[in-house]
Amino acid sequence: MTLSWSCQCRDGHARAGTLHTAHGAVQTPVFMPVGTAGTVKAMTADAVRATGASIVLGNTYHLMLRPGAERVGRLGGLHKMMDWQGPILTDSGGFQVMSLSKLRKMDRDGVTFQSHINGEKFRLTPERSIEIQHLLDADITMCFDECIHFPASHEEAARAMRLSMAWAKRSRDAFTPREGYGLFGIQQGSTFEDLRAESAKALTDIGFEGYAIGGLAVGEGQEEMFRTLDFSVPMLPETHPRYLMGVGTPSDLIGAVRRGVDMFDCVIPTRSGRTGRGYTSAGILNMRNAKHADNLEPLDPECDCPACTRHTLAYLHHLFKAGEMLGPMLLTWHNIRYYQTLMARLRAAIVAGRFEEEAAAIEAGWAAKGE
Ligand code: GUN
Ligand code: ZN
Repeated sequence: MTLSWSCQCRDGHARAGTLHTAHGAVQTPVFMPVGTAGTVKAMTADAVRATGASIVLGNTYHLMLRPGAERVGRLGGLHKMMDWQGPILTDSGGFQVMSLSKLRKMDRDGVTFQSHINGEKFRLTPERSIEIQHLLDADITMCFDECIHFPASHEEAARAMRLSMAWAKRSRDAFTPREGYGLFGIQQGSTFEDLRAESAKALTDIGFEGYAIGGLAVGEGQEEMFRTLDFSVPMLPETHPRYLMGVGTPSDLIGAVRRGVDMFDCVIPTRSGRTGRGYTSAGILNMRNAKHADNLEPLDPECDCPACTRHTLAYLHHLFKAGEMLGPMLLTWHNIRYYQTLMARLRAAIVAGRFEEEAAAIEAGWAAKGE
């Protein structure tokens, strides 16, 4: 059987489920740390596992440029290359071509672009993107799509969505089904309800192992994103996992889980970890703030990660001020652990039928302190 998802429990629209993949089971709702270039930045694979993360994300775009998809294949696939034995989801490259590459040229068949690393020319089509994700050995392959900027006109959003739906069909045809592996479709249509509906219909007619919501968290703001999710999520099959791409802050995650989303990825915990922003049960703390210089308290007294159980805020502050690489390492570990703890709490609350009480308790903690 291809990759599957089963629902254990529902509380309102929020769902607790299990994803069954070739490299193990994943409890949902789940947050996937981003391992763009074959590494979750500043973390060993053992450290990522120790945070409680069960699945990580990799990127077609970065890995095809360096070290090259065929080379990753020769090295035994992404799991072996990065020493991550758990499941991996790979993004298809469409979104990264748009945000990172230089001199890209789109046509109906695909995209030609220049590497942001050395200007070398590359081409991605739905068929090539699926082939690359196969070479990487992704448990979850994403359809090749076009993600547009926000705001977009209805006309532009319709054009890009229809092209993405044609590419979704070509992605499906190019994908080889294997035991425990699956292909996810990506809904597009910006913030327009009619386009989201047309996209959901096109995807469910083709049929996928899971359904992603794309084209959000591109500058529309949380209120507009939630408004779009209110009508977009119910358009996707209840029986399948739903994945909100590139989201988000802890508050975004709670709001999206409340609306029926099961999977997330975002660079926020890892990127913030490197720039000194810590996500805690009491809100966001900036490690560079001078007020931490003599603070012997832990970063987050409620956290069980090494940064919080073995070190003080004063030491973390010092590491960031001194530009020591242990600072980003410890804070990345903490942030990922915070995200994993958050998702585990939400899941347990769904199972216990007290999602709203738990969400309110978590949000009250942020309001209490923070910066
Ligand atoms: N990551 C964040 N948003 C998107 C999207 O719309 N498409 C793809 N492929 N990746 C994304
Ligand atoms: Zn911690």
